[in-house]
Amino acid sequence: MNNRWNKLIYRAGAPFYDVLFNAGPFARARKKVFTDLALEPGQRVLLVGVGTGADLRFFCGKTLEITAVDLSPAMLAQAKSKAGENEHIRFLEMDAQDLRFADQSFDLVIASLILSVVPDEHKCMSELVRVTKERGSIVIFDKFKGGEGKMPLIMRMLRPLVAVLGTDIGRNYQAILKPHLERLNIREDSPAMFGDMYRKIVLERK
Ligand SMILES: C[S@@+](CC[C@H](N)C(=O)[O-])C[C@H]1O[C@@H](n2cnc3c(N)ncnc32)[C@H](O)[C@@H]1O
Repeated sequence: MNNRWNKLIYRAGAPFYDVLFNAGPFARARKKVFTDLALEPGQRVLLVGVGTGADLRFFCGKTLEITAVDLSPAMLAQAKSKAGENEHIRFLEMDAQDLRFADQSFDLVIASLILSVVPDEHKCMSELVRVTKERGSIVIFDKFKGGEGKMPLIMRMLRPLVAVLGTDIGRNYQAILKPHLERLNIREDSPAMFGDMYRKIVLERK
């Protein structure tokens, strides 16, 4: 996976994305993941790889200072159209592996379906941790390979095919989190959809 391919694939997919990933089980899982977040007025929230803005509805209208970044102008355009005239949201074209923000800029960082998509999930995770304030939170909603062992054969066969569509079904979240555990408390780690393939992970920055 690489950024150039991601840009192409998400430009092609932008008009259809919501039909699949912002409806049915995805819409229900997002609701489960995001409705109980404790949000305070004025908090600075970052949505990393915001895509078409499927998660924006959980944050809009709450007097938050929202920043939404994505590599794909086509996906950002869809997100902007959802946000309408909301002046508390800024949209920026940016690489999630190289966030152009100072350390500890945000109270809450949202990473939905991005760690499975960026070329280097470890770089991306380091950036999520870096830009989160002390006592701030990172919420991850994504699909991961279960456990430490080998993936089932069918998944190993499907993995390269699915990667062509712009996502990796074989990433290990324990390995992604491990280098950061000195700076993070895991507040929640629970299945969110399709058994335990999609997870909700809530992290607090120490
Ligand atoms: C599967 S979509 C998820 C979108 C949204 N977060 C959601 O939950 O529906 C992945 C998004 O990541 C974006 N993306 C891919 N590579 C990226 C990168 N290196 N930096 C930032 N965004 C990236 C794509 O353009 C796409 O919008």
